[in-house]
Amino acid sequence: MASLPGSKVLLIGLLSAMTCFVALAIDNNPLQDFCVADPNSQVLVNGLVCKNPNNATAEDFFTSGLNEAGDTSNAVGSNVTLVNVVRIPGLNTLSLSIARIDYAPRGINPPHTHPRATEILTVIKGQLRVGFVTSNPENRLIAKDLHEGDVYVFPEGLIHFQQNNGEGNAVAIAALNSQNPGVITIANAVFGSDPDIPSDILAKAFMLNEEKVKELQARFDN
Ligand SMILES: *[C@@H]1O[C@H](CO)[C@@H](O)[C@H](O)[C@H]1NC(C)=O
Ligand SMILES: *[C@@H]1O[C@H](CO)[C@@H](O)[C@H](O)[C@H]1NC(C)=O
Repeated sequence: MASLPGSKVLLIGLLSAMTCFVALAIDNNPLQDFCVADPNSQVLVNGLVCKNPNNATAEDFFTSGLNEAGDTSNAVGSNVTLVNVVRIPGLNTLSLSIARIDYAPRGINPPHTHPRATEILTVIKGQLRVGFVTSNPENRLIAKDLHEGDVYVFPEGLIHFQQNNGEGNAVAIAALNSQNPGVITIANAVFGSDPDIPSDILAKAFMLNEEKVKELQARFDN
């Protein structure tokens, strides 16, 4: 193979370095052992300001109560108990959070996306039907039925859902690679925004008449 001229090697090196930089959409790497969030700071930064590390205690890295089921007596029949940087200040800058999800029989965790995290979910109890939709190739559903002990991945940013398709309650534990993964629940964001997205826009987008759109918007206002 002919050797590449120096300038070409440099260009390729630069391009791959830029690619690495662009691909860094997840939380940044920490630059110190930890950065326990200071809840009292008025300074706004990307993430949260660190308190003095000498003042960090075990409580900053701790929470409890994930043994308790969330109340699933709501419209969708599920409840997400999220443990992010708000609940454990020591998670600040560490690119990690965890959630317990409870599902009533036939309950769903409706289609949603986490703008800043990939999710890995383990079924602790019961069984779930889960899936996500790809962006490339466009709109392909990748779905599976899961049982106790099964683990499934929802890649960052993709719309995904879970449904309890078993007889009893179901429980899952999900880990996410962001201290603050964020969640956009599709139906609520689209039909429940405040103020409303103009109904003629949604009518065209969803191939519905405007009356139907207004009815849906009214249902999501509460
Ligand atoms: C935090 O640590 C600094 C230095 O170790 C100390 O002066 C300060 O009083 C501490 N603050 C609190 C709230 O404990
Ligand atoms: C989830 O469960 C908690 C604890 O039971 C409850 O306070 C909360 O209102 C529930 N959330 C929803 C959306 O039902």
